[in-house]
Formats: sequence, structure tokens, C-alpha cells
Amino acid sequence: MDDRHHDQIAKWERRWIALSGLMSLMFVILIAFSLATEGGHIAQVAGRGTPETLLAAAIFAEPGVRVTSPTEVQVSLVAQAFSFSPERIVVPLGAEVTFYLTARDVIHGWQVDRTNLNVIVIPGEIAVLRYTFTRPGTYRVVCNEYCGIGHQNMLGEIEVVSASQFGRTAASVPMVAAAATADQVDGAALYAANCASCHGAGGAGIAGAFPPVAPHSAELAAEDRSYLIDAILYGLQGPINVAGRDYNGVMPAWGHLGDAQIAGILNHVLDLGGPEVTPYTVDEIAAERGKGWSPSDVLTSRREVIGR
Ligand code: CUA
Repeated sequence: MDDRHHDQIAKWERRWIALSGLMSLMFVILIAFSLATEGGHIAQVAGRGTPETLLAAAIFAEPGVRVTSPTEVQVSLVAQAFSFSPERIVVPLGAEVTFYLTARDVIHGWQVDRTNLNVIVIPGEIAVLRYTFTRPGTYRVVCNEYCGIGHQNMLGEIEVVSASQFGRTAASVPMVAAAATADQVDGAALYAANCASCHGAGGAGIAGAFPPVAPHSAELAAEDRSYLIDAILYGLQGPINVAGRDYNGVMPAWGHLGDAQIAGILNHVLDLGGPEVTPYTVDEIAAERGKGWSPSDVLTSRREVIGR
């Protein structure tokens, strides 16, 4: 090989090395620029434990917004397949918001549109991060970690309002609040937030993946009033047949919802179709708690009610 050829190659090698050096420098500058203008919002791990112990902790037992001082707000959120609890929150403009996040079942993501908030939410871990919203409006929240068949429907919302407006709505902020009767909750909204991503907005389910809940639920409730409550409180796992189709999946337990919420959801589902059934009451839901059932226990009770 002649020298001229060698020099030619060496020249191009130096150019490529310079270019890659420049690119690395540009990346460092971009990171420094975004840290300086947007700030860093890297989640810290505030606690570890089994998902059960974390979810039983006061902050997650009733997730939602808590006002801790005139300029500070605490938000606890639980991610689960396929929703955030609460799904929608309202926070005041300009206040320092401390988010506490954990997951109930599998790894989820929590990304807030138009901000640089983006966290992986892990079961058994509490992620903490602080943020101050400086522009009012509605911020969309998405799960950006694939978590199962309903992942694309795992959405949430943060509404940022002025401090005075926040003061007026504060009472109704956490969606999962203690309500005394089924009539005080919006069953349709709760169904949309917690159930529709699998069972469909109208209750028709997703063929082959998630069974329909209407008119099937009303038929079940006419047979046995406690079965549907147990399926919500404790989940359901195993092969079932609904309207001539086989399903073999897992419904997670929804016992973290309040008695009034569950009654409201059930009454909404009963309204979607099927035979006329007396609406569920809060007391009926409360009576089914504390049985400590597993999702397969619920399957066994289902066999006793309808045998399929
Ligand atoms: Cu939760 Cu994807």
C-alpha cells in the first residue's frame, strides 16, 4: 500500500474522531442546558418493602392530594394494571408538589405531558419527586412502560388551577375519598376510570381477552348477590365461560376502592343491561370484606353460583 493512500485514510479517521468528540460534547451541553432551564426531576427512592406493606401505609391506603401547607401539596398515587389511583388529581398553581408513587402489581411508567416528569413506578418501592407547575391547564399522564394488554389505556390527568380555585375544589380532590352511600359517587365515572380499559366502555369486554360484564353481571347478581362483590374485592383467576366464550385470565383485586365506590360501580354495571336487580348498598360491600379470599377462591365460589 502506498503512503498517499495511508494518509488519506488517516485524514478521514481524524475527522470521524473529531466528529464523535463534538457529538459527545453537544450531548453534555444539552443535558446541562435542560438541567439549568427545566431543573432535574429525578425520583428518589423513599422506601422499600413488600407491595402489601407499602400499600397499607397511610399515604397509599387513601391515595390522592393532601394540602400540607399554604404552598405545599402532597400527592400519593398508586399505579396498577391498567389505571392510576386516583386517575385525576387537581393541584394548585405555583405550589411545591411532592409526588409519592408506587405500583400494586407490575412495573408501570408515569409520564406527565408538557413537563419533564417521567418515572418508572416499581412494586415494592416508593418513588418521590418534587415539581412546581407554573402554567395552569390540564396535563395528560400516560403509563410509558408496557404493562399488559390494557397498557395503552392506562391514562391519567393532572389539573393545575389557581390557588383560589383550588381552595374551592379541595374538598372534592381525591377521587378515592370516603363517601357514605352509593348515590354519592359517580358510578359511571368510576367504571370508566377503573374498569373500562379491560371490560369496555359499554361493558362488552374485549373478545378473547376480557369477558363482557353486561348483561352477564346482572344475571349473576340475580343468582347470588355476594359473588360480584367478591370478584371486585378479591379478584378472579382461572378459566371461565361467559356468553359461550372461554376466558382464562387474571382480574386483579380492587379492594383498595371504598365500599361506596364499589357499590357505585356495580350499580352502574347493572344499569348496562340484564335483568332488573336491586341496587347494591354500602353495607353489602362492607359485609364481604375481611374474608381474605384469593382470586382462585372467587373462582370456586363462581362455580358454585353458575358452574362455568
Ligand atoms: Cu401501566 Cu403500561
